[in-house]
Amino acid sequence: MNTEPDLPANHDEARRNFLKQSSLLTALALVPGPVVEAAAQNLDERVASAFEKVPLKLEINGKKYKLDVEPRTTLLDLLREQLHLTGTKKGCDYGQCGACTVHMDGQRVNSCLSFAVMHDGKKITTIEGLADGDKLHPMQAAFVKHDGFQCGYCTPGQIMSAVACVREGHADSEAEIREYMSGNICRCGAYTNIVAAIQEVKNGGQKV
Ligand code: FES
Ligand code: FES
Repeated sequence: MNTEPDLPANHDEARRNFLKQSSLLTALALVPGPVVEAAAQNLDERVASAFEKVPLKLEINGKKYKLDVEPRTTLLDLLREQLHLTGTKKGCDYGQCGACTVHMDGQRVNSCLSFAVMHDGKKITTIEGLADGDKLHPMQAAFVKHDGFQCGYCTPGQIMSAVACVREGHADSEAEIREYMSGNICRCGAYTNIVAAIQEVKNGGQKV
């Protein structure tokens, strides 16, 4: 039986395998030992993230912070996980519920949609920074007075948006308030009372 026709194919395959193995050995020889060991213990992600951290300065609720953060950290996760400012809530994590609303340089933003490293030098206000010591912010007091919450999970985001809504001059009518608060979802359906609270603050002419 003539096996000649198979020889070139077998030879090629053996050669390819040899080249693959020798390339892998060369690559491993060039990688530092501790990195190989870390990778073997599934620590490679942690090693990489330690190298990747970026310095960041923020002023949050009047306090200055110097931080090191991974570029992929959202502002929401930085506030909640790293700084333990858990008043800001994580609802959808996709920019659709408003539970994570904070003020950045006076503008309302969904902190779940924003990478922290994009905001070097910015001033952030969270729900923890709204009251004046023990004295509630007028919007907080109005939410309490008008029963603007039931479970309370959406409430920090609602209050931050409500303050911005009045500051932006978008609280002149019930319809306008509903439109400019439409990014804040309340699963308990406290909308009527939330609108009443915002109208009281707006009509009271208090500084917010
Ligand atoms: S958690 Fe950010 S919008 Fe829902
Ligand atoms: S008060 Fe419960 S989700 Fe709004």
